[in-house]
Amino acid sequence: MGIERTFSIIKPDGVERNLVGKIIGRFEEEGLRPVAIRRQHLSQAEAEGFYAVHSERPFFGELVEFMTRSPVVLMALEGENAVARNREIMGATNPSEAADNTLRKLYAESIGENTVHGSDSAENAAIEIAYFFPASTVG
Ligand code: CMP
Repeated sequence: MGIERTFSIIKPDGVERNLVGKIIGRFEEEGLRPVAIRRQHLSQAEAEGFYAVHSERPFFGELVEFMTRSPVVLMALEGENAVARNREIMGATNPSEAADNTLRKLYAESIGENTVHGSDSAENAAIEIAYFFPASTVG
């Protein structure tokens, strides 16, 4: 696969519990380095636009409410096979199904408040990075 970029969010539950350093440290230990990073309190429009693909799902309102509750940390991560690697490090969407030592197994409390988001494909990674980071702000 070679060197790739992926998009990551430390969600409100992670930032509220001061897990930012632990989570970024884990990415770095695993060979994924932040090439863009910003803390931001998402507006409703930003969260709805980011998750537009889920707009018809029954949990959409809950998801947007959660993601706008308090600030998140937005990141572009770079490394070998970064999209798949990030998903391995995060674990399954539902923390009760996540493998041992994954971020969601370690930190997430529910499928809704699952601490981290990661792109599911290289194509979506490019779209998601561009949604939050103008090209000139990615190192
Ligand atoms: P994420 O990887 O950010 O992508 C979409 C999010 O929707 C997902 O993580 C979950 O946090 C959330 N989600 C998925 N399924 C459910 C569900 N059944 N109930 C509440 N939230 C969900």
